[in-house]
Amino acid sequence: MRVLAVALLAAAPLNYARIYLADLLPRSVSRVLYLDSDLLVVDDVARLWATDLGPDAALAAPEYCHANFTSYFTDAFWSHPEYSSIFTNRGRAPCYFNTGVMVIDLDRWRAGGYTVKLEYWMEVQKQEARIYELGSLPPFLLVFAGEVKAVEHRWNQHGLGGDNVAGQCRELHPGPVSLLHWSGKGKPWLRLDAGRPCPLDALWAPYDLLRRRGARDDLLAAVA
Ligand SMILES: *[C@@H]1O[C@H](CO)[C@@H](O)[C@H](O)[C@H]1NC(C)=O
Repeated sequence: MRVLAVALLAAAPLNYARIYLADLLPRSVSRVLYLDSDLLVVDDVARLWATDLGPDAALAAPEYCHANFTSYFTDAFWSHPEYSSIFTNRGRAPCYFNTGVMVIDLDRWRAGGYTVKLEYWMEVQKQEARIYELGSLPPFLLVFAGEVKAVEHRWNQHGLGGDNVAGQCRELHPGPVSLLHWSGKGKPWLRLDAGRPCPLDALWAPYDLLRRRGARDDLLAAVA
């Protein structure tokens, strides 16, 4: 098995690149670890890589079953029997998961035709009805929610970007931390540049590629 870890920019068009990993990468790559670019790993990432996906899951990610799953889709979606029935035969009740941290079995992805399944929902959104408000995340929920292999929450200490209200800082969630994720509207590099960092942004500062001379070379050496 060839091993490849990929970090992609979270910039808008590239948000959709994660959908095409199975097509972009050579067939010899059978597993991929996808990580957003607004996070830091503070543990041995090989442990996340080695996640057991069980007998049939194509995707593993930290799940959030207390999040209000209904709110990720519009009334137009829930009131359309053909659309909403997509969740009826799932292995478990569908839960929200964040697509910023994913372990993907590319062989199972290719065999399951998941790229085409994701594109189907993006076409519905574009041509038939507005079934969700967010960009690249809801198609993943439509295809995978309820069939995701759950990953420990330590691998996504999320929300450090803060609330949408300007200037609101977040603290860590209780429990161990293997990965810090500045998901949310605020970003540490913007707050650092603006001279108004949140306390946890200090952890980001040493890795800010524009701030630290040599950081980019270190990073490239680390992934080579
Ligand atoms: C979940 O979200 C839906 C749609 O936004 C809302 O109608 C419903 O009341 C929410 N449920 C809970 C338990 O908050």
